[in-house]
Amino acid sequence: MKIGILTSGGDCPGLNAVIRGAVLKGIKVHGHEFVGFRDGWRGVVEGDIVDLPRQMVRGISKQGGTILGTSRTNPFEANGGPEVITAHMGRLGIDALIAIGGEGTLAAARRLTDAGLKIVGVPKTVDNDLDATDYTFGFDTAVQIATEAIDRLRTTGESHHRCMIAEVMGRHVGWIALHAGMATGAHAILIPEQKTSIDQVATWVLEAHERGRAPLVVVAEGFVPDHADSPHSERGLDAFGRPRLGGIADQLAPALEARTGIETRATVLGHIQRGGVPTSFDRVLATRLGMAAIDSVVDARWGTMVSLNGTEIVHVPFESALGNLKTVPQHRYDEARILFG
Ligand code: F6P
Repeated sequence: MKIGILTSGGDCPGLNAVIRGAVLKGIKVHGHEFVGFRDGWRGVVEGDIVDLPRQMVRGISKQGGTILGTSRTNPFEANGGPEVITAHMGRLGIDALIAIGGEGTLAAARRLTDAGLKIVGVPKTVDNDLDATDYTFGFDTAVQIATEAIDRLRTTGESHHRCMIAEVMGRHVGWIALHAGMATGAHAILIPEQKTSIDQVATWVLEAHERGRAPLVVVAEGFVPDHADSPHSERGLDAFGRPRLGGIADQLAPALEARTGIETRATVLGHIQRGGVPTSFDRVLATRLGMAAIDSVVDARWGTMVSLNGTEIVHVPFESALGNLKTVPQHRYDEARILFG
């Protein structure tokens, strides 16, 4: 078979390990041939491919980003759609697609599968918000990067007796904030799932300060304070019409400073969390998912994605990952909250 691979949506450490796992297993076990589509669905819609022989994936599992490039192109727009894609696949002799991406990618893949295309999926998001998989690769790396950065904020905060606010990724869910906040001993963790008043955050900050600590607040970019209706956004919309988030920490800093009298600084970690080498956990997970995606193709499990269930890789329908975000459950927040203040 000739299999096309694409990486789509925001990039994520581990994408290259998925590609390598799929290509190596496909070639070594089944004698498949591989091509990569450049820049996600854009390459699929335009029939823009690059050959993926074995030497192309040599040593790439430790490499950040994606060797194929990515985009947030919607395959149903930009002169795309199932007929155009089917025509390209026929012309290029491609039998099946492996789509590596988040909710938007998988939703598009499901629509294309419904239209008759042969597609299997590999879930991807640093936010860890996809349902039907215990963890997504990239999340562990993002938490690790955030933890290292927040540890650094901690020492400068202690030296100056300041309150430090670290803003991490997390559009709809607070997994990165919860884990990085817990790992760094944050005095408050603010996540999209939990509406919290600024007064409550100020109380936690003052409690920590009164014990002689430099207060540390970790906030997810999608956090909505209880007086607001939507997450802070001042950077326009992305290609899918979603508000570009970022900057809530800069809003919180003066509000907390006014309430507590403690000099407060905000740091937005942003895309640093998605860059650079994946952790060993993410490399292993991504490699196994890539290899399992080959099983999905061989077994003609079109319309399914590979996923992590405990320590096993399983196959689930696209539907189970769509429409339902994996949010931080109340008991996980309550557990963390015991340590606030
Ligand atoms: O969906 C993952 C994510 O990292 C979000 O946390 C963030 O809002 C978004 O991607 C940013 O994406 P970009 O700036 O690359 O469009």
